[in-house]
Amino acid sequence: MTRTRCDRTPAWEALQTSFNASGRAFDLRAAFAADPGRFETFSQTAPHVFADLSKNLIDSATQQLLFDLARQTGVEQHRDALFAGAAINQSEQRAVLHWLLRYPPLAAADISQTTVNVASELAAVHTTLNAMLTYAQTVRADDAITDVVNIGIGGSDLGPQMALLALDEFVLPGKRFHFVSNVDGHELAAVLKRVKPASTLFLIASKTFSTIETMTNAQSARAWFEALGGTDVARHFAALTTNVAAAKAFGIRTTFGFWDWVGGRYSVWSAIGLPLAIAIGAQGFRELLAGAHEMDEHFRSAPLEHNLPLRLGLLDVWYRNFHGFSSRSIAPYHSALRRLPAYLQQLEMESNGKRVDAAGAALPFGTSPVLWGEPGTNGQHTYFQMLHQGTDVVPVEFVAVKKAPHALPGHHTLLLANAVAQAQALMVGKADAGGHKHFPGNRPSTFLLLDELTPTSLGALIALQEHRVFVSGALWGINSFDQWGVELGKLLAKDVHARLTNGDLAGLDGSTKGLLQRLRTV
Ligand code: F6P
Repeated sequence: MTRTRCDRTPAWEALQTSFNASGRAFDLRAAFAADPGRFETFSQTAPHVFADLSKNLIDSATQQLLFDLARQTGVEQHRDALFAGAAINQSEQRAVLHWLLRYPPLAAADISQTTVNVASELAAVHTTLNAMLTYAQTVRADDAITDVVNIGIGGSDLGPQMALLALDEFVLPGKRFHFVSNVDGHELAAVLKRVKPASTLFLIASKTFSTIETMTNAQSARAWFEALGGTDVARHFAALTTNVAAAKAFGIRTTFGFWDWVGGRYSVWSAIGLPLAIAIGAQGFRELLAGAHEMDEHFRSAPLEHNLPLRLGLLDVWYRNFHGFSSRSIAPYHSALRRLPAYLQQLEMESNGKRVDAAGAALPFGTSPVLWGEPGTNGQHTYFQMLHQGTDVVPVEFVAVKKAPHALPGHHTLLLANAVAQAQALMVGKADAGGHKHFPGNRPSTFLLLDELTPTSLGALIALQEHRVFVSGALWGINSFDQWGVELGKLLAKDVHARLTNGDLAGLDGSTKGLLQRLRTV
């Protein structure tokens, strides 16, 4: 399980030299003019996803150096350690097995390639999956339940929410799905206005079953339920958690568990996916898992040169550490993917937003970029101005879907044309001596294309993103699977909450004290 941090490899130095010599001045337009085969060379097919990488600021020499970097850091060995069930989340001494959640039922031959530990976990995975999907089917068939309210935050919210919106075409008609995450009571109050105790199922989704936002919302939901005469908590509340004991203590009898080796942001494939399973059905959920598994197999077995998550992760490092680009914009040209940017924000920034390596040493280079974005074409009429003419270069990741299920003539062609045209405009630019109308061009983008947006292709797309985050994290030598950075704020919020109530402002810094004084003034 030895890996070498990227900056300690000969390839890193070679990349720096090459960047200084020619990389900085690399011009996409010249590269296309010089190489009619560039699109083919820099395209990559992976299960359910085609990627055009040709509008990125790389040539074959850089790409080779990046492959050298991957080899010298041992990223493939680190990937193998992931799939062998090694405790690669070192700060918590945990294996990282979210991929196991989408592994088909025990194929003894396959599993013998990994560890015994993994084989035994897989049996538990399928027992829980079957129970959860049976329950999902029961809820689907229960016409008396018209509303499903998921209460959870972070990974216990974004995955199922993003996927449910994305798979709207596959959602069972006749049931409404609501997601409450924020402790801001406006959110829960707005949902409670629209539902009735007798016809609502609350899913309390929390890996730890201790997250203050979720617990507060869950308690308020139960109080509302009981105040309006609801009695059958067992029927109307279910918990999705690794902390089954805490859920039971809360009074919830129907629980679906998962395991500490599933990070919150990687948990949509677990019991956390229950709202999605109710929405798209057991078969749809199994298709999602199957699509993700196909991508796992691609990541696990495709050679470095043809491995899409590896190629994307390498590009991420190239941009962040050599070009110095500090953000990436996600442009899903499909309104159903409107929560994809938020989902990817947590995936990337919670995983790789780290300033020390796995051994705790401070890093001398940048890690996670800022991810942000809105669906196309909306973004074009807001912040694309900055992408085309701003002072910072922001690589854009377009996500488009070839076929649309709706029958509105003309719309989809127009949408796709816009996606392609934006990528083209970013690259080609437009000369204008006057300055204001000058587009510098040479702005990089990646274009991910799915044939159709289905449970299978969505599963593959999400697994692709998980693995590319793994790759850059591995190169940077960090632990992508903990999130200590969220703890301090949680701790201080408890203290501030108490002080806001009891008025004890002693020992606080001037600003916190001043704000609390203002908040306490009637
Ligand atoms: O505080 C961050 C975090 O732990 C995320 O990693 C997680 O997805 C979210 O909170 C919710 O946690 P839980 O599912 O335990 O309520």
